[in-house]
Amino acid sequence: MARYGHFDDAHREFVITRPDTPLPWLNMLGQDDFYGICTQTAGGYSFWKDARLRRLTRYRYNNNPMDNDGRFLYIKQGKSVWNPGWKPVRCDLDAFECRHGLGYTRITGRKAGIEVEQLVFVPPDENVEIWRVTVRNVSRTTQKLSLFSFVEFCFFEALNDMTNYQRTYSIGEVEVEGSAIYHKTEYRERRNHYTLFGCTREIAGYDTSRDAFVGVHRGLHDPRAVLAGRCSNSRAHGWNPVGAHQVDLAVGPGKAETFAFVLAYVEQGDLPKFDAPFVLNKARGREVLKKYSDLSVVDGAFAALGRRWQGLLCAYQAPRVPNRHLRRMVNVWNQVQCMATFNLSRSTSGYETGIGRGMGYRDSNQDILGFVHLLPARARQRILDIASTQLSDGTCFHQYQPLTKKGNADVGGGFNDDPLWLIPSTCAYIRETGDETILSEPCGYADRPGSRETLLHHIETSMAYTLANLGPHGLPLIGHADWNDCLNLNCFSTEPNESFQVTGDIAGSKAESVMIAGLFLYAARELADLYRFLGAPADALRADGYHAGMLKTVEEQAWDGSWYTRAFDAESRPVGSKACDEGKIFIESQAWCVLGGAGAHNGRARKALEAVERHLYRPDLGCALQWPPYSTYHLELGEVSSYPPGYKENAGVFSHNNTWIQIGWTLLGDGERALGYYLSICPSAKKDHDVYRSEPYVYAQMTASQFSPTPGEAKNSWLTGTAAWSFVVASQYILGIRPEFRGLRVDPCIPRSWKGFTVQRRFRGVTYTIAVSNPRGRSKGVKTLVVDGRKVEGNVIPLAADGRTAVNVEAALGA
Ligand code: GLC
Ligand code: GLC
Repeated sequence: MARYGHFDDAHREFVITRPDTPLPWLNMLGQDDFYGICTQTAGGYSFWKDARLRRLTRYRYNNNPMDNDGRFLYIKQGKSVWNPGWKPVRCDLDAFECRHGLGYTRITGRKAGIEVEQLVFVPPDENVEIWRVTVRNVSRTTQKLSLFSFVEFCFFEALNDMTNYQRTYSIGEVEVEGSAIYHKTEYRERRNHYTLFGCTREIAGYDTSRDAFVGVHRGLHDPRAVLAGRCSNSRAHGWNPVGAHQVDLAVGPGKAETFAFVLAYVEQGDLPKFDAPFVLNKARGREVLKKYSDLSVVDGAFAALGRRWQGLLCAYQAPRVPNRHLRRMVNVWNQVQCMATFNLSRSTSGYETGIGRGMGYRDSNQDILGFVHLLPARARQRILDIASTQLSDGTCFHQYQPLTKKGNADVGGGFNDDPLWLIPSTCAYIRETGDETILSEPCGYADRPGSRETLLHHIETSMAYTLANLGPHGLPLIGHADWNDCLNLNCFSTEPNESFQVTGDIAGSKAESVMIAGLFLYAARELADLYRFLGAPADALRADGYHAGMLKTVEEQAWDGSWYTRAFDAESRPVGSKACDEGKIFIESQAWCVLGGAGAHNGRARKALEAVERHLYRPDLGCALQWPPYSTYHLELGEVSSYPPGYKENAGVFSHNNTWIQIGWTLLGDGERALGYYLSICPSAKKDHDVYRSEPYVYAQMTASQFSPTPGEAKNSWLTGTAAWSFVVASQYILGIRPEFRGLRVDPCIPRSWKGFTVQRRFRGVTYTIAVSNPRGRSKGVKTLVVDGRKVEGNVIPLAADGRTAVNVEAALGA
């Protein structure tokens, strides 16, 4: 890894030391409504709330690894032209460094005595992205140079922007006032918002026409204005509006100049739209630029960002964990990724275009599991938003748009695992906060506008849906797919232009999913616990009954001899069975049956996980999704068999489901395996980045497996359910600090060689400092628990008495 960079754990940064990383290594900026994606060379784009409906800057399609477009600075110094972030000009630099931090990226480039630092961040609760720029003269003579800024504007609706040129090439409109460039396309008609790109320093010129700044037959690597050393104050009429400023500087030896660029999303609200015909009322925009023209406000905003993250991360810190990979992931980067997946679901990243997928029903529910400790109030709202996209028959919209919160009709529903995911997310919220009032919040069904059923009603509807939709073996019907979106047992598609996900008639189908059965077992136990907490024993018994009934079915119908069968297809033939030629064993049914409590008393849980180890696991790669990969397309299985062997759901290492196996090993008390499996997919622990290629600080969705031609190569970083689940694994199951309805459980499962560790956990307003010791070299089993000096029976720290804000806990493993 040292080849491309290293962790700076003390500063909670990842430091990239050369710009030509194996793939663009990106960071996510923004935490509330304004977001930016920023790579180590300042590539990427920005949007407000919804990357499809409010895209502010343009990023061209099919752009990995090219990473063209971004937030660029150009330096013109005599004849030489360079970028502090190396791209797009790619002129050799004397020094380069990119520090991806918590919500910010700081890129520094040096050449010929000039060092330029570009610090990009989105301050908390503001709809702006700030580039704080410092130009330092590190030479002995005065340096004269021109600095140019550059963004290309997007016309807000990103899909239209990249497809409908017969319209878009005629609609672009801008205004310029001083050093403020206003992008106001479609503002005259139905939009009441615009993008502002301003400079806090006096400028020598600007451009807003891409043709003028870049040149018609040129690229961003040789922009005409920069090469000429001069902007031409162009006004865009149609075509491709851009924002470019020219700042002329003369910096004395050892001196520095600091100023800022501000990219803002401005809503006009009820202010008059125009000052005069065609003239935008710029009052709000002027305020924004004025505010940040005071450098101390910029610095204050950056400090506030630091405080925001510091405050968030305090909720869970484990500073003395013996393994450094787990330590830095659980303390910093995994939590950062949980924030990103919570905010963006699977909508927008270097791989997700921001136009294809909205917020996923199952995805967002799972994302809450790794996020709820950070900002429980936001998790609460999200749970209610998600529930409102469920229909009254129990089915759910598979995805919804964040801006409108409306289900996405193109994708529809019929993914039969979806409804059940609402239960773990709701329970996680109540365990974290103790706030059961969420259950009685009205959140109607999507097909019944104005209806006011409660969240608890949704939960019961979800359970009832599964129970009402069982197949010939008594197992849940799968519908279009379950968690594995590519297991399309009702699709039968021969037409290449169809979506595997939505094609195929699921009405009357017999295809069943053992994974959903396992998830149902898990959900039934959650629900029973919840009802016990609520003081509703009759309902708890009813939920226990659901569990017992499904458990019997699973053990009778789904045990294949050495592992759990994955599914039964539309003809009731087994999938993921020793009887199959390909796809004999799948990971998801082993994981979910074990998590749901199957195999606990008959030895099958261990057998199932051992089968995973035997057939799917490689310590340097993780577990493949299934084995053997499908070598041909199976009409009756769908997309899972469409991928080349070893990639994606066709036996790739799909990181997300690895986490469930890791939990499984902790349930069996195997601390060596739990940590070993955890490290097998941990990005920080990857050794050869020319092979792995993706970011070392965040999980990728998928790594090509041993069954592929490129084992170990990761793709699709950042937006994956792996983030939330890995945090659950590390924080709640390996380190074992697990919120319960009535307290905090201490139940670690660690390697025997660990002597101990400490966790600071903020829980319901109290900070618990929990020191775990392991004097006898055990993996699991808390023997003594001492809370503020008093011995407590069992391993649950009771809720602190009123008024206490800090509690000390000592836990010892082993007899
Ligand atoms: C993608 C989807 C997720 C699905 C998984 C497995 O990550 O976002 O919903 O469960 O793939 O197919
Ligand atoms: C494709 C992907 C899968 C993803 C799905 C989402 O099927 O392989 O991972 O969940 O698309 O629509």
